[in-house]
Amino acid sequence: MIVTKSPAQIEKMARAGEIVGDCLEMLTGHCQPGVTTGDLDTLAESFIREHRAIPTFKGYRGYPASICASPNQMVVHGIPGPYRLKEGDLISLDVGATLAGWVGDSAITVAVGDPGSVALRLLEVTRESLFKAIAMCVPGNHLGDVSHAVQEHVERNGFAVVRTLVGHGIGRKMHEDPQIPNFGTPGQGPLLEEGMVFAIEPMVNVGTHRVIGGDDDWAIFTADGSLSAHFEHTVALTKKGPRVLTARGANDRSGLGVTHPLW
Ligand code: MF3
Ligand code: CO
Repeated sequence: MIVTKSPAQIEKMARAGEIVGDCLEMLTGHCQPGVTTGDLDTLAESFIREHRAIPTFKGYRGYPASICASPNQMVVHGIPGPYRLKEGDLISLDVGATLAGWVGDSAITVAVGDPGSVALRLLEVTRESLFKAIAMCVPGNHLGDVSHAVQEHVERNGFAVVRTLVGHGIGRKMHEDPQIPNFGTPGQGPLLEEGMVFAIEPMVNVGTHRVIGGDDDWAIFTADGSLSAHFEHTVALTKKGPRVLTARGANDRSGLGVTHPLW
């Protein structure tokens, strides 16, 4: 069952989402050679708590950290630790914050220095696919329109969408109905209504769409060792259209407005 949110509840979610967006923006500035993913986790946890929020991921099904930090061929769910960023890395950062009982969830993949043309294209296409999906978040569309928008853009550009991991409804809990695959058929699935709030999160690989689990039971890698990118926003369906609740920085508040080229 998809739980819709009132305009007042969406305002509360926007305050949680703002902390997540600002946290990711802060972390992006620290994605420099020599910084460890553990350093990023420490920075994020302090930031979230200073804003009177709680890091949603910490303790979720036993997850030990406040963020996920997944380098290069790691798709998602990297536990932060001693891994040191180096020139040319991609690093996917996923942040969740709970404020006054409402959750925001967002992810970005950041280039450390120059990762090369294929990696930059991967970032661009993945981010574009997220915004094409966001644009479909209007009442009267179907969930399949959102999923299809991701798949169509990614595959047209020669990359592959991960199939075994999905986006999700979000609200008082991080994971609510519906599941939001990054592939699908236009016109199919639940009818979209005002007040629904979705965490849309394309995970896109350069090579095969297939993934494999790591030894720590959290990390997910591409099966062929190719690079992967992950962009996620928490998005509310409002009367005025899709509203990105986890937008980053002053230029990104409008959701579909001007943003950093790699966001
Ligand atoms: N954005 C991820 C998700 O929606 C973050 C969860 S990581 C976890 O599943 F550690 F909290 F599980
Ligand atoms: Co999510």
